[in-house]
Amino acid sequence: MSEEHDIKIEGKIIYPDPSFKENTRMGDYEAAYNEFQRNPEASWEKIANELEWIQRWDKVCEWQHPYARWFVNAKLNITQNCLDRHIHNGKKNKVAIIWVGDGGEERVLTYRQLYREVMRFANGLKSLGVKKGDTVCIYMPLVPEQIIVALACARIGVIHSIVFAGFGTQALNSRIRDCNAKIVVTADATIRRGKRVELKAIVDEAVVNAPSVEKIVVLRRMKPLMELYSEIEIDYNEVLKDVPECEAEIMEAEDPLFILYTSGTTGPAKGIVHACGGYMVGAYYTTLNVFDLRDNDVFWCTADPGWITGHTYIIYGPLLAGGTILITESTPDYPDPGVWWNIIDDFDVTIFYTAPTAIRMFMRMGEEWPKRYDLSSLRILGSVGEPLNPEAFEWYYRVIGKERCPIVDTWWQTETGMHMITTLAGQPMKPGFVGKPLPGVVADVVDKNGESVPSGKGGFLVIKEPWPSMMRTVHNNDERYRQYWNTIGKYYTAGDLAVKDDDGYIMILGRSDDVIIVAGHNIGSAEVESALVSNGAVAEAAVIGKPDLLKGEIIKAFVILREGYSPCDKLKSELIYHVRMSLGPIAMPSEIEFVDSLPKTRSGKIMRRVLRAKELGMDPGDVSTLED
Ligand code: WTA
Repeated sequence: MSEEHDIKIEGKIIYPDPSFKENTRMGDYEAAYNEFQRNPEASWEKIANELEWIQRWDKVCEWQHPYARWFVNAKLNITQNCLDRHIHNGKKNKVAIIWVGDGGEERVLTYRQLYREVMRFANGLKSLGVKKGDTVCIYMPLVPEQIIVALACARIGVIHSIVFAGFGTQALNSRIRDCNAKIVVTADATIRRGKRVELKAIVDEAVVNAPSVEKIVVLRRMKPLMELYSEIEIDYNEVLKDVPECEAEIMEAEDPLFILYTSGTTGPAKGIVHACGGYMVGAYYTTLNVFDLRDNDVFWCTADPGWITGHTYIIYGPLLAGGTILITESTPDYPDPGVWWNIIDDFDVTIFYTAPTAIRMFMRMGEEWPKRYDLSSLRILGSVGEPLNPEAFEWYYRVIGKERCPIVDTWWQTETGMHMITTLAGQPMKPGFVGKPLPGVVADVVDKNGESVPSGKGGFLVIKEPWPSMMRTVHNNDERYRQYWNTIGKYYTAGDLAVKDDDGYIMILGRSDDVIIVAGHNIGSAEVESALVSNGAVAEAAVIGKPDLLKGEIIKAFVILREGYSPCDKLKSELIYHVRMSLGPIAMPSEIEFVDSLPKTRSGKIMRRVLRAKELGMDPGDVSTLED
């Protein structure tokens, strides 16, 4: 993808029912945006005032490029806002979590029940010897305990680092080591498409060479109970303490709340650090306003808490807002492609937030599946993770939303912590465009010198001012953090290419770096390359993303073999399996091509851009730095 070219952007405009504009919380977008522009600090303060703080701030924001402190000197505990506040304000028996299993089993937890479970686990964690500032790694399936453990960590000031359970041994090991986790909380297995998928076995391998790990807590879901061998292993239920209260640790607004790893262009995954106070305000603000969350909504975000979408819009945002969330361990096409529509029908889901790759899969399965169910409870539809192409937008709008529900396509990142750009319910929708920056977000499309580019010209997406839920650093790599704010002028560089139209609507064109987005999940080319090179047959590898109708992108690897190995299909499958075992199924290359050389710069860097252009039959752009 190259920038600074003319880009064809005319398209359709869909005008929503005007009642949305009148009735949503945000009301008039322009007015709200301008109010924020005029007085950002007072605007953020107004939102923060709706939450409970142990001690108020001296100052809303202290900005010393590239470092921000938000709600300076304030004290809080986010779980008091997610739990205690609702228990004491009439929501004690309101449903917090509805869980649906792979086989249709159900569990429901009210705020009272969730509170009690969090307290029991928090007390248990304490008895295992962890304390404020320590890190706990969570590697669990999508069950209520995954959320309970995260909240229990936050309760006692322990930093959680959730790793998506689709990652393999090597990916888990490098994350545990980077964040120095003292405890790993896992489960025996997850159930996918009726089959048991082992998780504990992966943890067993991942903790070898991870000396920080003192205990492994295992949620044993399956019968017969999995045996626990070593003395560092302990059953989840044994950790629980029957003490109904656990005092909330008093946290500084700037204390870290969690570390979440995201893939980068070079080197290992980056541990994105989010801070308690600002993250809380950002998650709360966007959940309320982008989804227009109301008291009787049933909010279903189909992500996993192993990704930022799950952190902000399964765990923290909806619970801060006192909402009811639905989560499921089920896959969208098992036992048939109607399961998810059945869930919406059955539970009267009102807000449905999913990824373009899922929508495209449903399109392929055919309209007859959703048509079998009553989807009239739906009010708002959302999308996240990768560009929502106009065809998928129109299908989602027509077949699922029955041309009644606005679609909020939300652009944001692990690093931003909260939604940044979207089209709020009630605003005219332009399929293919995410929309405009939220009130409080100053976004632009610029050239490499930081100058705004005219509408219709491609450029780099940047954020010009700090916002409360911005990441605070990259764990163990503050230099990498500073790069985000020092690459293009003094702006935050998102790494995405974009284009604006005359109305200020932004279209996301794709990444400007070598991060590959497969089915909405970020995969770092460097991580896949190093997994390949760790196989004895491989001398060198380069990995690119290749457009795919269903997944957005798939991974293609170019591999140079070592002396003594010859290219064959068996070796291809072996290498794919090798990556699967080390990084997990989501990072598996779909294609491997054996080559004799790779395009490199004189300084030895692989020019993936050139490989990609060649693969797609495009112009490779500037190749003056190419070695030969
Ligand atoms: C991409 C996910 C187009 C983008 C919340 C971004 C999107 C990266 C959208 C962040 C969207 C996310 N339209 N592209 N609505 N949302 N992206 O950190 O390239 O997993 O930089 O956060 O996903 O991925 P991350």
